Amino acid sequence: MRTQQGTPVRREAYQPLAYGVETVDLDFLLDPKATQVSSRLVCVRNPDAPAGPIVLFGEGLELLSLHIDGAEPAAGQLRKTDSGLELDVSAERVVLDIVTRIDPSANLTLSGLYQSRGGYYTQCEAEGFRSITYFPDRPDIMARYTVRLEADAAACPVLLSNGNLLETGNLPNGRHFARWEDPFPKPSYLFALVAADLKALERKVDTASGREVLLQVWVEERDLDRVGHAMDSLIHSMRWDEEVFGLELDLDRFMIVAVSDFNMGAMENKGLNIFNTKYVLANPETGTDLDFENVESVVAHEYFHNWTGNRVTCRDWFQLTLKEGLTVFRDQQFTADMMARASDSPDAAASARAVTRIANVRGLRGGQFPEDAGPMAHPIRPDSYQEINNFYTATVYQKGAEVIRMLHTLLGREGFRNGMDLYFSYHDGQAVTCDDFVGCMAEANGADLDRFMRWYSQAGTPRLKAEGVYDPAGRSYSLTLSQSTPATPGQADKLPLHIPVAVGLIGADGVDLPLQLEGEAHAGDSTRVLELKDASQTWRFTGIDAEPVPSLLRGYSAPVILDVVEDDARLAFRMAHDSDPFNRWDAAQRYMERVALALAAEAAAGRPMEVPQAFGHAFRALLVNASLDPAFVAETLALPSEAYLLERMQPADPAPLRAALIHLSRELGQALQGDFLARYMDLEVDGEYRYHPADAGKRALRNLCLRYMMAWGGPTAVQLASLQFKTAGNMTERYGALAALVQSDAPERLEALEAFHERYKDDALVLDKWFLLQACAWRWSADAPATLERVRALMDNPAFSLSNPNKVYSLLGGYFKANAAEFHREDGAGYAFWAEQVVALDRNNPQVASRMARALEGWRKFTPAIQARIRVVLEQVAGAEGLSPDVTEIIGKALA
Ligand code: PHE
Ligand code: ZN
Repeated sequence: MRTQQGTPVRREAYQPLAYGVETVDLDFLLDPKATQVSSRLVCVRNPDAPAGPIVLFGEGLELLSLHIDGAEPAAGQLRKTDSGLELDVSAERVVLDIVTRIDPSANLTLSGLYQSRGGYYTQCEAEGFRSITYFPDRPDIMARYTVRLEADAAACPVLLSNGNLLETGNLPNGRHFARWEDPFPKPSYLFALVAADLKALERKVDTASGREVLLQVWVEERDLDRVGHAMDSLIHSMRWDEEVFGLELDLDRFMIVAVSDFNMGAMENKGLNIFNTKYVLANPETGTDLDFENVESVVAHEYFHNWTGNRVTCRDWFQLTLKEGLTVFRDQQFTADMMARASDSPDAAASARAVTRIANVRGLRGGQFPEDAGPMAHPIRPDSYQEINNFYTATVYQKGAEVIRMLHTLLGREGFRNGMDLYFSYHDGQAVTCDDFVGCMAEANGADLDRFMRWYSQAGTPRLKAEGVYDPAGRSYSLTLSQSTPATPGQADKLPLHIPVAVGLIGADGVDLPLQLEGEAHAGDSTRVLELKDASQTWRFTGIDAEPVPSLLRGYSAPVILDVVEDDARLAFRMAHDSDPFNRWDAAQRYMERVALALAAEAAAGRPMEVPQAFGHAFRALLVNASLDPAFVAETLALPSEAYLLERMQPADPAPLRAALIHLSRELGQALQGDFLARYMDLEVDGEYRYHPADAGKRALRNLCLRYMMAWGGPTAVQLASLQFKTAGNMTERYGALAALVQSDAPERLEALEAFHERYKDDALVLDKWFLLQACAWRWSADAPATLERVRALMDNPAFSLSNPNKVYSLLGGYFKANAAEFHREDGAGYAFWAEQVVALDRNNPQVASRMARALEGWRKFTPAIQARIRVVLEQVAGAEGLSPDVTEIIGKALA
């Protein structure tokens, strides 16, 4: 057990260890049931730390032997503790030889050393290394590693570890070995080994300084036709980091390995990234445009970690956002640049960037906002945790990236780069804190970021209020911005934050006004970044001839909720004219949200629902505007996610919301059927599939049109969807058609689901999509079968397995987290199913169980009747025997 239950680890309690480790030599004799791990550690006294023993963490290990400088420990020198071992030594430098035995075949946690499809894989972040061998398993202990692995040559022809390959050879009894050396000191969480039957796609490329490096993507042989895109993505990532940040690959070899059983997306182990197959494999036949995009961004993310995470790492796990927020920001910038680069005009590039930004913000609002409003709310740098695995959160990652983006906005591109350069010059090879990072940004720019640091310590989504007053006599416009942050668990009072607010003022003709602040000699750009630092501040713009329409928080310049009074007409105006494409999208989404929530209120009250005509007009204007980028239009006309709408609905009530969304999409589908059909027809992409933003955008809008047409129903829509399903030349079109069919009660949906299953029944990743679609299916008529029964039945499908995270995330995660109305059904059957599955999962894989457990943490936002039903199952799970610390923390906080 990682922590004693109920005893949180506190950030303030950080202490360096008395002994660090200089070098680690590992020797693995790999065997499914009895793997022997020999470790030689050179431990060195840390002069900056208080005196103390050598601290070694260990979990579930069988200790075979331990020697100190070649000798058995003296009586009383070695102590067992709750978390491992402690050794009293007096020398400045000692050599420890430790031999342990572990059973990879019995390890279903997918942390530490485990087996997947006959191969051996490791996952050490955050604290998996301690279940491989005894070690001071903390990120501030950086050491140089050599690794020798030995395994059965037939079962595991490929033997990999971090760094450079030194030697390979054959051994008696059909075994073989390899020796690896990683020249860079690293924390134990970046250690990795792989021993499996894999094949590689290889490329040799030159780095910016002209060094030739070997790139490999390792997969099972049958998947070799799906790795080209991952390889291209890796090469693009390398080039981008050289160009934008001057950062080069520091090893002679860089490897990516794909594994089917993996808890997370991917892992940045030094020189040996291990990926969930979902984020490596993609070809036109099996992957959608979204899969291609995800592969590209995850490959980039892990590659970028080599500098932001590996060369400079975290002092302790509270600093996780130091590497994750920064690296997410870097991968988002990379994706935006790649999208822009593929565009053929500056306008198209701006729109492509906005599309990337919109996707990022959708993720933040749908995933992070609920977290920040619930019992797990924590600052991007948390103050305490019970189980660190619960803190790989949307807050640490997505909000963390927003905080880095704000620094980029405040300091500018060049200022930010200067800060990064200083960060590497001071801290390369070190384990540091978020203060160190922001300190470099401040120092490189002579900026005062003291107040900005509050973003690291305050939880909760800040509310930004804006009020504008036009003074015709003075030809000026005063804008007052005020901020407040709601209380979160353990943080009752909040202080004002340093918030960059990008602002534009739109004239009556729809054109941006040049902006001149009071006291300035002349007007400047039409978008200005105002820095709000106090609870409330006012800015006065001069030379304004008529009342303007403000466009606030352009590009989403800060992760806040903007409260501004805008009537429907003004939203429609900005939907049509805002020069900032992000805000144009946001105006449409706000309008849609308003309409959807109003319809939901009618539905809840049992009154008839009516979609305002003006909304239909504004919607149509974008739909038929062929001069806009189709990808942008698709984002703009897509409904806001239910997760986000439930967050905005008070109290949250999934059933009327679902009724509202069904009604809204049906009405739009009917009212605009001709327009949807026309766009559907002229957006057809001919020629061979290529993953390209322009083509992807057309396919996205085309599939969206199909979904609206299907929502209304009727034979044309069904025919079109069935035809697209049958004749599709790529997965994006095939899956788009299937999704449209499944979002209806047309009988053709069953045929299509059957055909899809038949075609892909041996293809794990494609089947994940099939499971997900059914888990997320809405019920379009009262007599349609309930989703829960379908989900239960699908668990019996031979391709489903509770021990494969991807399967769980698709089928169970889809149902618990992306199908609110069905999950929160009135009879409570969804909750009973949840409790049953969480407890079952927890026996084998607490990390996966904990993720599913989190589906109900936001229970207090619902109506009292729903809350009462959920409380029962939360208490039931809380009382289950042998619950992991992971699930215990989630349920405990939910009930607190
Ligand atoms: N560090 C990984 C990433 O974000 C995520 C991860 C965390 C993977 C913990 C496995 C375990 O890139
Ligand atoms: Zn990461």
